[in-house]
Amino acid sequence: MALSLDRLEVVILAAGKGTRMKSKLPKVLHRVCGQSLLARVLRAASGLSPKRIVVVAGYEFERVSQEVSALREYPFLKGIELEVVNQEEQKGTGHAAQVGLSKVSEKASAVLILPGDSPLIREQDLQPLLDEAQAKTIDLCLLSCKHPEPSGFGRIIRDASGEIVGIVEEKDCSDEQRLVEEINTSIYLCAREFLQQALAQLDTKNAQGELYLTDIVAHAVSSAAPLSSVTTEEVEPVLGANTRFELSKLEAFRRAQINQEWMEKGVTLEDPEHTYIDEDVVIGEDCSLGAGTKLRGHTTIANDVYVEGQSLIIDSKIGESSTIRLSCEIESSKIGDHCVIGPFAHLRPGSFLWDKVKIGNFVETKKAELYHGVKVNHLSYIGDAEVGGGTNIGAGTITCNYDGSKKKHKTKIDAGCFIGSNSALVAPVEIGQGAYVAAGSTITQSVPKGSLGVARGQQRNIDGWAERKKMVTGD
Ligand code: UD1
Ligand code: MG
Repeated sequence: MALSLDRLEVVILAAGKGTRMKSKLPKVLHRVCGQSLLARVLRAASGLSPKRIVVVAGYEFERVSQEVSALREYPFLKGIELEVVNQEEQKGTGHAAQVGLSKVSEKASAVLILPGDSPLIREQDLQPLLDEAQAKTIDLCLLSCKHPEPSGFGRIIRDASGEIVGIVEEKDCSDEQRLVEEINTSIYLCAREFLQQALAQLDTKNAQGELYLTDIVAHAVSSAAPLSSVTTEEVEPVLGANTRFELSKLEAFRRAQINQEWMEKGVTLEDPEHTYIDEDVVIGEDCSLGAGTKLRGHTTIANDVYVEGQSLIIDSKIGESSTIRLSCEIESSKIGDHCVIGPFAHLRPGSFLWDKVKIGNFVETKKAELYHGVKVNHLSYIGDAEVGGGTNIGAGTITCNYDGSKKKHKTKIDAGCFIGSNSALVAPVEIGQGAYVAAGSTITQSVPKGSLGVARGQQRNIDGWAERKKMVTGD
């Protein structure tokens, strides 16, 4: 029956609620450095180019299926059949594997089983299992690792000659077995036929009353099926996470690796322990990231960008030689070259800044296109707007885009305008090229090209008023 790699398929166990996470979100949808646990495991599996990957979902089936559908579009899954199967009742990892196997092709020669809760698993951790199957005649090869704190994991039990005799779960361990440091990673490469036979033999005679996948190892031993193991040197990449604390430790591990990788590529990190860079972020050379910088999602930072720190940048593009000063939040936005943003600026989705734009403190933008050299230096809101090149927006300017009922309207300001401080531009409204708006105006009608729009109460000065007041009140 020996294991051949002619047609490899993968089963990912992702149906559990993750009770120990104490979360409404299924465990496999929690994230590490911006990617769901499931996405990370799928990516690692896809590296082995299997013919098919079967995801066993169950708890919150729809949500997990949606994540799989979203991931289907990713290039790493191209050419791989992807199936999601419903384990309606979660009766243990062995039962999940049974459900998964029902969607594995009859033609498959080998099945790799992966737990959906091992977020740091990489293709290179799995490859040795395939190498082992090629080098030896085996039915089953499992991946183990030595863990100085093995508590919570299944222990690999070996006889005096070092041969594996079984896996015992923590809750079923004797005191002596509990001391064993070699743990089960829950990653198994099996000949398909062997797996089918072994899963049919499972029972629930254990402390948790579940069908344990681990028992396929005891089945291999009792039926004298050839069995092998590979032990990894690096621990974290193959660890599963059952609690938020365990997940945070794995995330910290991966974060430190990502940070080190960027430093090696020429990025300065002022405080690597407090810099948070998601997996898919791209950063150019000679950038500098201050303490507390968070770069999330598909953010791209060009060369020579300076991020002062305490800023959150999500799914955005920052152009070359731009500066993000202290404490800015930038989301789904695009910033050109040589721009200066902040401190304390909020660029909401759809902010599109051309080159040399300046956004100062306490400025908020949303769905706004600001052309070359625009300055919005203080305390303004620019939403649903287009601002032409070289325009200067004075402190406290508001584009009043919302009419209070249902609609948002657009403000269009042409190139070379000057909007005086504390102006309210009530949209829809257009300020023509080179026009001025007087400070304190509430502009409700368009201002033609080259004109001055003034819309405020006229000032009058009352002579001697202060002196007369003193005479009346005695102040
Ligand atoms: C499992 C192993 C343990 C190993 C550890 C490694 C068993 C019995 N134990 O324990 O030996 O050291 O992984 O991390 O296999 N799942 C389902 N359906 C179910 C139950 C679980 O799909 O009915 C999925 C979960 O969503 C999870 C994976 O299987 O992704 C592992 O389940 P989990 O409950 O985390 O098992 P552990 O207790 O960690
Ligand atoms: Mg687990």
